[in-house]
Amino acid sequence: MGCICGHGKESYEKYLEPLRNILARYSAEQASLIPILQEAQEQYGYLPQDILQEIARSLQLSLAKVYGVVTFYTQFHLQPRGKNVIKVCTGTACHVRGGTEVLRAIEKELGIVSGGTTEDLEFTLETVACIGACGLAPVIMINDDTHGRLNQNNVASVLAAYRSEDKTPRKEETLKLAN
Ligand code: FES
Repeated sequence: MGCICGHGKESYEKYLEPLRNILARYSAEQASLIPILQEAQEQYGYLPQDILQEIARSLQLSLAKVYGVVTFYTQFHLQPRGKNVIKVCTGTACHVRGGTEVLRAIEKELGIVSGGTTEDLEFTLETVACIGACGLAPVIMINDDTHGRLNQNNVASVLAAYRSEDKTPRKEETLKLAN
């Protein structure tokens, strides 16, 4: 059987190998579903349909049941995600200090809207409620880094740092304040 991407049988088996290793560590029962989904997502970056089919088959669940669980929890993603996940705070403090303009500037810079992922899979853009850094409003998070006091003019340079060859931000950059 080939996957939905049109892979041949051999490459499909290779593609499934990490999933089979995950499945082998769990008992084939419904209680295993969420931890298996978590591990599969960690492995594949998201939860493609063919992976969900294999999980459903392995646990003897309907695909509808598996989809029901995946769509219920926001931690699961059915579409590929960018290497960098940007979360723009839309809480009150950020909103009154220009959070919407920051969001629009990021959308323009990346050519996507909130909820989208760039074609090169570099960035996924999301909005979130207050992230508890109101004193730095308006605030965004990129992966685990908090960037505060942003405006529509300085946000592009913040994003640029994540486009560099080494996309792993240095530890000391964890809290950045844009001037
Ligand atoms: S409202 Fe944005 S961090 Fe609190």
